[in-house]
Amino acid sequence: MKTKFLTTADSDIKIAADIIKMGGNVILPTETVYGLGADALNSKAVANIFKAKGRPADNPLIMHISDLDMLRMVACEVPDNAKRLMDKFWPGPLTIILKKNKNVPYETTGGLETAAVRMPANECARRLIRLAGTPVAAPSANLSGKPSPTTFKHCKEDMDGRVDAVIDGGDCEIGVESTVLDLSGDMPILLRPGEITREQLCEVIGDVKVVTSVKKGETPKSPGLKYKHYAPKAEVCVLSGTAEQAAEFIKKRSERVNCGVLTFDGFPYMECKKVISLGSSANPTQAMHILFTALRDMDEAEVSVIYAPEISDKDSWRAVKNRLYRAAGEKILDLSDPIKVKSELDKIDYHNISVDDMTRRNTLAADLCKNKKQVLFVCTGNTCRSPMAEALFNMECEKIGILAVAVSAGLYADGSAASENSAEVMRELNCEIGDRRSVQLTAEMLDKSDMIICMTAAHKQMILSAFGDKYELAEKVKTFSDILGFPAEVPDPFGGSIEVYRSCRNVIYRYLRRMFDGEIFDS
Ligand code: TXA
Ligand code: MG
Repeated sequence: MKTKFLTTADSDIKIAADIIKMGGNVILPTETVYGLGADALNSKAVANIFKAKGRPADNPLIMHISDLDMLRMVACEVPDNAKRLMDKFWPGPLTIILKKNKNVPYETTGGLETAAVRMPANECARRLIRLAGTPVAAPSANLSGKPSPTTFKHCKEDMDGRVDAVIDGGDCEIGVESTVLDLSGDMPILLRPGEITREQLCEVIGDVKVVTSVKKGETPKSPGLKYKHYAPKAEVCVLSGTAEQAAEFIKKRSERVNCGVLTFDGFPYMECKKVISLGSSANPTQAMHILFTALRDMDEAEVSVIYAPEISDKDSWRAVKNRLYRAAGEKILDLSDPIKVKSELDKIDYHNISVDDMTRRNTLAADLCKNKKQVLFVCTGNTCRSPMAEALFNMECEKIGILAVAVSAGLYADGSAASENSAEVMRELNCEIGDRRSVQLTAEMLDKSDMIICMTAAHKQMILSAFGDKYELAEKVKTFSDILGFPAEVPDPFGGSIEVYRSCRNVIYRYLRRMFDGEIFDS
């Protein structure tokens, strides 16, 4: 798809409005973050939003309206407290959840009976919605799982070729997504903190309950709560301790790993690959504005890990803390615990391996790329690890133009579907494995494959003892450890939470990248 790049001039907004009327999608600026908009009342148009973002379809969308007349098109009951909040905060960064109007398709609300509505303060956004004449459903315009885009450049990076048009509205003023408040039940519930704070809401409508995370096994009130958002490629970790402890830790860690450090103005200098300040530690608005760009800039600087400061528990810092800690997957390192510090310091940096390892990998990778070789990934049941490895390998080959193809199988496979969590974390990368069935490993598959990569040494042992040394198996059957030259087992995520699966996916991805890196650099 060819993406049109538009300005905020009237003639361009008209083009954008026509695209929306015809069921297409347009990335539009708002005061919070850029949104990926389409006609909220057209289920096909909405389906295309999910496709472009690679977003799970049970995550409902916010509907954006240009004026109060449009409210009736999306909501059927507007309680008094909602009216008071609209009066005070609209147009602005407040999303209110109300009972939905029956015209709103379930595709937009992720199957819910409620509708999330907001009237953006951004004037260009409202002009567009008014001209389109329909509420515009718009999630943040990032690829699912990445930090929300706050500049035109971010939108282009993520979405060029995936949407009909992008409007360049400059940098977003606020920088984090709107406050989401649920008024559809008996008690107002703050589902997502944003620039408008709980205190500000309480001033208008009295008490507001806060529910912004989901406990294991609980059904989330807002489906978005169960996903780890805002995550850059590099791992994020919050450091808990004094500034001096942090400086000492970063210095040591930087001897092994390219570290990025998020800090505040006036904190001690940190010796590492990249330092970005979130501004004054007394100014949450400034930190909000910088945070997502900082996370993306860290990826551009190719750091392997981002260390971040602890964030205050104050109401005004709630939005920053929520986004940053979720990017970290709630990982906090206590710098006063020597055992934990040592184990973090000792962690291998997969982005930075020795020349010997590189040479070993080069030969292998170069060999793989000759004449469309087949790689076979093997795990136990072929429902979690090996299907993810297969999909990641094929995605990566396509991306960098390697002519190899991956398949996968299990030592004990019974034809069941890929596990839900594997499918989910692959969907975050825009890759569907949900409809595949597990495949039993056969001698024929081993014979046909040029390389067999096992998730653990135990799998390799089982293959060798079950199939003997026919088909030159000893030569072909490998583990990631054999290939990469450092201990690289992939433990079974079976039965684990979505985070466990995501981390398993990331581990496999890192190993594959290591395999490929040698090859791209040197051939
Ligand atoms: O600032 C913003 O809100 C941006 C700009 C583009 O307006 N939009 C945005 O949308 O952040 P999105 O889709 O990325 O986040 C919407 C959040 C999700 O966490 C979703 O689960 C929640 O709102 N949500 C939407 N409809 C809901 C509903 N009916 N009930 C509960 N939560 C809902
Ligand atoms: Mg989002």
